[in-house]
Amino acid sequence: MTRQPIKFAYWVPNVSGGLVISQIPQRTSWDFDYNRKLAQTAERVGFEYALTQIRFTAGYGADNQHESVTFSQALLGATERLKVIAALLPGPWNPTLAAKQIATISHLSSARIAVNIVSGWFRGEFKAIGEPWLDHEERYLRSEEFIRCLQGIWQEESFTFAGDFYRYRDYSLKPKPLQPLPEIFQGGSSRAARDMAARVSDWYFTNGNTLEGVRQQVVDIQQKAVENQHSVRIGVNGFVIARDSEQEAHQVLRQIVEQANPDAVKGFQHEVKNAGSASPEGEGNWANSTLEDLVQYNDGFKTNLIGTPRQIAERIIELHQAGVDLLLLGFLHCQEEVEYFGREVIPLVRELERQLQPELSHG
Ligand SMILES: Cc1cc2nc3c(=O)[nH]c(=O)nc-3n(C[C@H](O)[C@H](O)[C@H](O)COP(=O)(O)O)c2cc1C
Repeated sequence: MTRQPIKFAYWVPNVSGGLVISQIPQRTSWDFDYNRKLAQTAERVGFEYALTQIRFTAGYGADNQHESVTFSQALLGATERLKVIAALLPGPWNPTLAAKQIATISHLSSARIAVNIVSGWFRGEFKAIGEPWLDHEERYLRSEEFIRCLQGIWQEESFTFAGDFYRYRDYSLKPKPLQPLPEIFQGGSSRAARDMAARVSDWYFTNGNTLEGVRQQVVDIQQKAVENQHSVRIGVNGFVIARDSEQEAHQVLRQIVEQANPDAVKGFQHEVKNAGSASPEGEGNWANSTLEDLVQYNDGFKTNLIGTPRQIAERIIELHQAGVDLLLLGFLHCQEEVEYFGREVIPLVRELERQLQPELSHG
Protein backbone atom coordinates (compact mmCIF):
# COMPACT_ATOMS: atom_id res chain seq x y z
CA MET A 1 0.00 0.00 0.00
CA THR A 2 1.31 3.47 -0.87
CA ARG A 3 1.80 5.64 2.19
CA GLN A 4 1.49 9.40 2.09
CA PRO A 5 4.77 11.19 2.92
CA ILE A 6 5.10 11.79 6.65
CA LYS A 7 3.80 15.17 7.81
CA PHE A 8 5.43 17.59 10.25
CA ALA A 9 3.87 19.75 12.95
CA TYR A 10 5.56 21.90 15.59
CA TRP A 11 4.50 22.90 19.11
CA VAL A 12 3.62 26.58 19.19
CA PRO A 13 5.35 28.21 22.17
CA ASN A 14 2.26 30.14 23.30
CA VAL A 15 3.26 29.20 26.85
CA SER A 16 6.34 30.68 28.56
CA GLY A 17 9.37 28.62 29.53
CA GLY A 18 9.63 26.65 26.29
CA LEU A 19 9.04 22.91 26.05
CA VAL A 20 11.45 21.72 28.72
CA ILE A 21 11.31 22.18 32.51
CA SER A 22 14.89 23.37 32.65
CA GLN A 23 16.90 26.47 33.49
CA ILE A 24 19.00 26.01 30.36
CA PRO A 25 19.10 29.33 28.48
CA GLN A 26 16.49 29.27 25.72
CA ARG A 27 16.02 31.73 22.90
CA THR A 28 12.39 30.62 22.46
CA SER A 29 9.83 33.26 23.38
CA TRP A 30 6.09 33.01 23.94
CA ASP A 31 5.22 36.47 22.60
CA PHE A 32 3.31 37.02 19.40
CA ASP A 33 6.06 38.69 17.36
CA TYR A 34 8.29 35.69 17.91
CA ASN A 35 5.47 33.27 17.12
CA ARG A 36 4.44 35.06 13.93
CA LYS A 37 7.94 34.79 12.55
CA LEU A 38 8.23 31.18 13.68
CA ALA A 39 4.99 30.21 11.92
CA GLN A 40 6.11 31.90 8.72
CA THR A 41 9.45 30.10 8.88
CA ALA A 42 7.78 26.77 9.60
CA GLU A 43 5.44 26.90 6.61
CA ARG A 44 8.30 28.00 4.37
CA VAL A 45 10.56 25.07 5.35
CA GLY A 46 7.98 22.28 5.06
CA PHE A 47 5.87 22.12 8.22
CA GLU A 48 2.20 21.50 7.45
CA TYR A 49 0.73 22.01 10.95
CA ALA A 50 1.30 24.00 14.14
CA LEU A 51 -0.24 22.98 17.50
CA THR A 52 -1.18 25.57 20.12
CA GLN A 53 -1.52 24.54 23.76
CA ILE A 54 -4.24 25.30 26.28
CA ARG A 55 -3.41 26.05 29.91
CA PHE A 56 -5.44 28.10 32.33
CA THR A 57 -3.03 28.36 35.24
CA ALA A 58 0.69 28.66 35.83
CA GLY A 59 2.93 25.82 36.76
CA TYR A 60 6.32 24.18 36.20
CA GLY A 61 7.92 27.18 34.53
CA ALA A 62 4.90 27.84 32.30
CA ASP A 63 4.02 31.06 34.11
CA ASN A 64 2.27 32.80 31.23
CA GLN A 65 0.02 31.25 28.63
CA HIS A 66 -1.78 32.82 25.70
CA GLU A 67 -5.19 31.28 24.98
CA SER A 68 -5.14 28.66 22.23
CA VAL A 69 -8.07 29.55 19.91
CA THR A 70 -7.30 33.27 19.82
CA PHE A 71 -3.61 32.64 19.31
CA SER A 72 -4.31 30.11 16.54
CA GLN A 73 -6.47 32.62 14.71
CA ALA A 74 -3.69 35.21 14.88
CA LEU A 75 -1.16 32.72 13.47
CA LEU A 76 -3.55 31.83 10.65
CA GLY A 77 -3.81 35.52 9.82
CA ALA A 78 -0.02 35.72 9.55
CA THR A 79 0.43 32.66 7.31
CA GLU A 80 -0.82 31.33 3.97
CA ARG A 81 -0.59 27.53 3.96
CA LEU A 82 0.05 26.43 7.56
CA LYS A 83 -2.82 24.59 9.28
CA VAL A 84 -3.12 25.54 12.93
CA ILE A 85 -4.53 23.12 15.49
CA ALA A 86 -6.21 24.83 18.44
CA ALA A 87 -6.43 22.91 21.73
CA LEU A 88 -9.89 22.74 23.32
CA LEU A 89 -10.51 21.47 26.84
CA PRO A 90 -14.04 20.11 27.41
CA GLY A 91 -15.26 21.60 30.67
CA PRO A 92 -14.14 25.18 30.14
CA TRP A 93 -15.35 24.80 26.53
CA ASN A 94 -18.69 23.37 25.57
CA PRO A 95 -19.36 22.13 22.01
CA THR A 96 -21.75 24.99 21.19
CA LEU A 97 -19.16 27.72 21.68
CA ALA A 98 -16.34 25.66 20.20
CA ALA A 99 -18.30 24.72 17.05
CA LYS A 100 -19.29 28.35 16.50
CA GLN A 101 -15.80 29.81 17.10
CA ILE A 102 -14.09 27.28 14.89
CA ALA A 103 -16.68 27.62 12.09
CA THR A 104 -15.99 31.34 11.93
CA ILE A 105 -12.23 30.83 11.98
CA SER A 106 -12.62 28.30 9.16
CA HIS A 107 -14.15 31.10 7.05
CA LEU A 108 -11.46 33.57 8.07
CA SER A 109 -8.62 31.19 7.25
CA SER A 110 -9.68 29.32 4.07
CA ALA A 111 -10.34 26.17 6.11
CA ARG A 112 -6.90 25.96 7.73
CA ILE A 113 -8.10 25.61 11.34
CA ALA A 114 -8.13 22.21 13.12
CA VAL A 115 -8.79 21.28 16.77
CA ASN A 116 -7.08 19.12 19.40
CA ILE A 117 -9.48 17.82 22.02
CA VAL A 118 -7.60 17.40 25.29
CA SER A 119 -9.20 15.58 28.18
CA GLY A 120 -7.45 17.10 31.20
CA TRP A 121 -4.60 15.99 33.48
CA PHE A 122 -4.11 19.08 35.66
CA ARG A 123 -6.42 18.69 38.63
CA GLY A 124 -5.08 21.82 40.37
CA GLU A 125 -5.99 23.84 37.31
CA PHE A 126 -9.59 22.57 37.32
CA LYS A 127 -9.83 23.41 41.02
CA ALA A 128 -8.46 26.92 40.43
CA ILE A 129 -11.10 27.72 37.81
CA GLY A 130 -14.00 26.02 39.59
CA GLU A 131 -14.43 23.21 37.08
CA PRO A 132 -15.60 19.84 38.46
CA TRP A 133 -12.88 17.20 38.21
CA LEU A 134 -14.18 14.00 36.61
CA ASP A 135 -12.47 10.66 36.92
CA HIS A 136 -10.39 9.33 34.01
CA GLU A 137 -13.12 7.29 32.31
CA GLU A 138 -15.69 10.06 32.64
CA ARG A 139 -13.30 12.61 31.18
CA TYR A 140 -13.07 10.47 28.05
CA LEU A 141 -16.84 9.87 27.93
CA ARG A 142 -17.24 13.63 27.96
CA SER A 143 -14.55 14.16 25.32
CA GLU A 144 -16.18 11.61 23.02
CA GLU A 145 -19.56 13.33 23.36
CA PHE A 146 -17.83 16.65 22.75
CA ILE A 147 -16.36 15.32 19.48
CA ARG A 148 -19.65 13.73 18.36
CA CYS A 149 -21.39 17.06 19.00
CA LEU A 150 -18.79 19.05 17.03
CA GLN A 151 -19.20 16.64 14.13
CA GLY A 152 -23.00 16.69 14.33
CA ILE A 153 -23.22 20.48 14.58
CA TRP A 154 -20.81 20.92 11.66
CA GLN A 155 -22.36 18.28 9.42
CA GLU A 156 -26.09 18.12 10.08
CA GLU A 157 -28.70 20.63 8.96
CA SER A 158 -30.59 20.12 12.19
CA PHE A 159 -28.72 18.50 15.07
CA THR A 160 -30.37 16.62 17.93
CA PHE A 161 -28.39 14.85 20.66
CA ALA A 162 -29.18 13.51 24.10
CA GLY A 163 -26.01 12.61 25.97
CA ASP A 164 -24.86 12.46 29.58
CA PHE A 165 -23.01 15.76 29.23
CA TYR A 166 -24.55 17.66 26.31
CA ARG A 167 -28.02 18.05 24.81
CA TYR A 168 -29.18 19.59 21.53
CA ARG A 169 -32.61 19.87 19.92
CA ASP A 170 -32.94 20.77 16.23
CA TYR A 171 -29.88 22.99 16.44
CA SER A 172 -28.85 24.49 13.13
CA LEU A 173 -25.44 26.17 12.94
CA LYS A 174 -24.98 28.72 10.20
CA PRO A 175 -22.61 29.19 8.60
CA LYS A 176 -21.13 25.73 8.71
CA PRO A 177 -17.31 25.62 8.53
CA LEU A 178 -15.87 25.58 5.02
CA GLN A 179 -14.99 22.25 3.43
CA PRO A 180 -12.87 20.32 4.21
CA LEU A 181 -14.28 20.41 7.73
CA PRO A 182 -11.82 21.15 10.54
CA GLU A 183 -9.82 18.02 11.37
CA ILE A 184 -10.27 16.66 14.88
CA PHE A 185 -7.13 15.63 16.73
CA GLN A 186 -7.10 14.28 20.28
CA GLY A 187 -4.28 14.10 22.84
CA GLY A 188 -3.81 11.16 25.25
CA SER A 189 -2.52 7.58 25.20
CA SER A 190 -4.52 5.50 27.68
CA ARG A 191 -6.80 2.65 26.60
CA ALA A 192 -9.74 5.08 26.84
CA ALA A 193 -7.88 7.49 24.53
CA ARG A 194 -7.09 4.75 22.01
CA ASP A 195 -10.69 3.50 22.02
CA MET A 196 -12.00 7.02 21.47
CA ALA A 197 -9.58 7.57 18.59
CA ALA A 198 -10.68 4.31 16.99
CA ARG A 199 -14.31 5.46 17.14
CA VAL A 200 -14.48 9.19 16.44
CA SER A 201 -11.26 11.18 15.96
CA ASP A 202 -9.50 11.99 12.70
CA TRP A 203 -6.11 11.98 14.43
CA TYR A 204 -4.63 10.36 17.54
CA PHE A 205 -1.83 12.37 19.17
CA THR A 206 0.39 10.55 21.63
CA ASN A 207 3.34 11.43 23.85
CA GLY A 208 6.88 10.57 22.80
CA ASN A 209 7.72 6.88 22.95
CA THR A 210 10.13 4.20 21.79
CA LEU A 211 9.62 2.70 18.34
CA GLU A 212 8.18 -0.44 19.95
CA GLY A 213 5.90 1.56 22.25
CA VAL A 214 4.55 3.49 19.26
CA ARG A 215 4.10 0.31 17.21
CA GLN A 216 1.98 -1.32 19.93
CA GLN A 217 -0.37 1.65 20.06
CA VAL A 218 -0.69 1.83 16.28
CA VAL A 219 -1.59 -1.86 16.04
CA ASP A 220 -4.17 -1.59 18.82
CA ILE A 221 -5.83 1.53 17.40
CA GLN A 222 -5.83 0.43 13.77
CA GLN A 223 -7.30 -2.99 14.64
CA LYS A 224 -10.10 -1.35 16.61
CA ALA A 225 -10.65 1.27 13.90
CA VAL A 226 -11.15 -1.48 11.31
CA GLU A 227 -13.73 -3.15 13.57
CA ASN A 228 -15.50 0.21 13.91
CA GLN A 229 -15.17 1.01 10.18
CA HIS A 230 -13.48 4.22 11.18
CA SER A 231 -10.36 5.78 9.72
CA VAL A 232 -7.82 7.46 12.01
CA ARG A 233 -4.28 8.70 11.56
CA ILE A 234 -1.47 8.76 14.11
CA GLY A 235 0.71 11.65 15.32
CA VAL A 236 3.62 11.21 17.75
CA ASN A 237 5.47 13.81 19.82
CA GLY A 238 9.26 14.08 19.63
CA PHE A 239 11.79 16.58 20.94
CA VAL A 240 14.38 17.24 18.26
CA ILE A 241 18.00 17.98 19.01
CA ALA A 242 19.61 18.00 15.57
CA ARG A 243 23.25 19.03 15.45
CA ASP A 244 26.10 18.56 13.00
CA SER A 245 27.60 15.85 15.23
CA GLU A 246 25.95 13.19 17.38
CA GLN A 247 28.20 14.10 20.30
CA GLU A 248 27.09 17.74 20.18
CA ALA A 249 23.40 16.72 20.15
CA HIS A 250 23.80 14.45 23.17
CA GLN A 251 25.73 17.13 25.00
CA VAL A 252 22.75 19.49 24.58
CA LEU A 253 20.44 16.78 25.97
CA ARG A 254 22.74 16.36 28.99
CA GLN A 255 22.76 20.11 29.58
CA ILE A 256 18.96 20.31 29.43
CA VAL A 257 18.64 17.47 31.95
CA GLU A 258 21.46 18.68 34.24
CA GLN A 259 19.89 22.13 34.44
CA ALA A 260 16.38 20.80 35.05
CA ASN A 261 14.53 22.35 37.91
CA PRO A 262 14.13 19.29 40.23
CA ASP A 263 11.29 20.71 42.34
CA ALA A 264 9.28 21.71 39.27
CA VAL A 265 9.87 18.32 37.60
CA LYS A 266 8.79 16.51 40.78
CA GLY A 267 5.70 18.71 41.05
CA PHE A 268 4.85 17.88 37.45
CA GLN A 269 5.50 14.17 38.16
CA HIS A 270 3.03 14.32 41.04
CA GLU A 271 0.33 16.09 39.01
CA VAL A 272 0.53 13.86 35.93
CA LYS A 273 -0.44 10.85 38.07
CA ASN A 274 -3.98 12.03 37.23
CA ALA A 275 -3.39 11.08 33.57
CA GLY A 276 -2.63 7.53 32.38
CA SER A 277 -1.76 6.26 35.90
CA ALA A 278 -5.31 7.13 37.04
CA SER A 279 -6.93 5.03 34.30
CA PRO A 280 -8.34 1.60 35.20
CA GLU A 281 -5.45 -0.05 33.33
CA GLY A 282 -2.82 2.27 34.86
CA GLU A 283 -1.31 2.99 31.45
CA GLY A 284 -1.18 5.98 29.16
CA ASN A 285 0.61 9.30 29.20
CA TRP A 286 3.40 9.61 31.77
CA ALA A 287 2.50 6.28 33.45
CA ASN A 288 6.07 4.97 32.96
CA SER A 289 8.02 8.21 32.65
CA THR A 290 11.31 8.66 34.51
CA LEU A 291 12.25 12.02 36.03
CA GLU A 292 14.54 12.58 33.05
CA ASP A 293 11.70 11.88 30.59
CA LEU A 294 9.51 14.42 32.39
CA VAL A 295 11.98 17.26 31.79
CA GLN A 296 10.27 17.42 28.37
CA TYR A 297 6.54 17.91 28.98
CA ASN A 298 5.34 15.20 26.59
CA ASP A 299 8.07 12.53 26.89
CA GLY A 300 9.71 13.84 23.73
CA PHE A 301 13.21 12.54 24.51
CA LYS A 302 11.91 8.96 24.34
CA THR A 303 11.28 9.25 20.59
CA ASN A 304 15.04 9.69 20.22
CA LEU A 305 15.15 12.34 17.51
CA ILE A 306 18.53 13.35 18.87
CA GLY A 307 21.66 13.20 16.72
CA THR A 308 22.78 14.20 13.24
CA PRO A 309 20.25 15.08 10.52
CA ARG A 310 20.84 11.69 8.87
CA GLN A 311 20.33 9.71 12.08
CA ILE A 312 17.14 11.63 12.77
CA ALA A 313 15.86 11.19 9.21
CA GLU A 314 16.45 7.43 9.44
CA ARG A 315 14.53 7.21 12.74
CA ILE A 316 11.69 9.21 11.22
CA ILE A 317 11.47 6.69 8.40
CA GLU A 318 11.30 3.84 10.94
CA LEU A 319 8.43 5.61 12.71
CA HIS A 320 6.67 6.17 9.39
CA GLN A 321 7.04 2.48 8.58
CA ALA A 322 5.60 1.64 12.00
CA GLY A 323 2.40 3.48 11.04
CA VAL A 324 3.08 7.07 12.14
CA ASP A 325 1.53 9.65 9.80
CA LEU A 326 2.70 12.86 11.48
CA LEU A 327 5.47 13.95 13.82
CA LEU A 328 4.73 16.71 16.30
CA LEU A 329 8.06 18.30 17.08
CA GLY A 330 9.42 20.41 19.91
CA PHE A 331 12.71 22.31 19.87
CA LEU A 332 14.92 24.16 22.36
CA HIS A 333 15.51 27.33 20.31
CA CYS A 334 12.41 27.08 18.12
CA GLN A 335 13.15 29.71 15.47
CA GLU A 336 16.69 28.58 14.61
CA GLU A 337 15.97 24.88 15.01
CA VAL A 338 12.77 24.78 12.96
CA GLU A 339 14.79 26.43 10.20
CA TYR A 340 17.68 23.95 10.60
CA PHE A 341 15.27 20.99 10.66
CA GLY A 342 13.59 22.19 7.48
CA ARG A 343 16.91 22.70 5.73
CA GLU A 344 18.85 19.65 6.92
CA VAL A 345 16.38 16.94 7.95
CA ILE A 346 13.18 17.21 5.88
CA PRO A 347 14.99 16.91 2.49
CA LEU A 348 16.75 13.75 3.73
CA VAL A 349 13.43 12.28 4.87
CA ARG A 350 11.91 13.01 1.46
CA GLU A 351 14.88 11.41 -0.28
CA LEU A 352 14.64 8.25 1.85
CA GLU A 353 10.87 8.09 1.27
CA ARG A 354 11.42 8.25 -2.51
CA GLN A 355 14.02 5.49 -2.35
CA LEU A 356 11.51 3.27 -0.54
CA GLN A 357 8.54 4.26 -2.68
CA PRO A 358 9.71 5.74 -5.99
CA GLU A 359 6.12 6.50 -7.01
CA LEU A 360 5.73 8.96 -4.11
CA SER A 361 5.36 12.51 -5.24
CA HIS A 362 5.97 15.30 -2.79
CA GLY A 363 4.35 17.96 -4.88
C1 LIG B 1 0.12 16.04 21.71
C2 LIG B 1 -0.60 16.33 22.98
C3 LIG B 1 -1.02 17.62 23.25
C4 LIG B 1 -1.69 17.93 24.43
N1 LIG B 1 -2.03 19.23 24.68
C5 LIG B 1 -2.64 19.55 25.85
C6 LIG B 1 -2.99 20.90 26.14
O1 LIG B 1 -2.75 21.82 25.35
N2 LIG B 1 -3.62 21.15 27.31
C7 LIG B 1 -3.92 20.15 28.22
O2 LIG B 1 -4.48 20.44 29.26
N3 LIG B 1 -3.59 18.87 27.96
C8 LIG B 1 -2.96 18.54 26.81
N4 LIG B 1 -2.63 17.22 26.55
C9 LIG B 1 -3.00 16.19 27.56
C10 LIG B 1 -4.09 15.22 27.11
O3 LIG B 1 -5.19 15.80 26.61
C11 LIG B 1 -4.54 14.24 28.19
O4 LIG B 1 -5.23 14.89 29.19
C12 LIG B 1 -3.39 13.54 28.82
O5 LIG B 1 -2.47 13.20 27.84
C13 LIG B 1 -3.81 12.26 29.54
O6 LIG B 1 -4.12 11.30 28.64
P1 LIG B 1 -4.18 9.74 28.94
O7 LIG B 1 -4.47 9.56 30.37
O8 LIG B 1 -5.26 9.26 28.03
O9 LIG B 1 -2.86 9.16 28.52
C14 LIG B 1 -1.96 16.89 25.37
C15 LIG B 1 -1.54 15.59 25.09
C16 LIG B 1 -0.88 15.28 23.92
C17 LIG B 1 -0.43 13.88 23.65
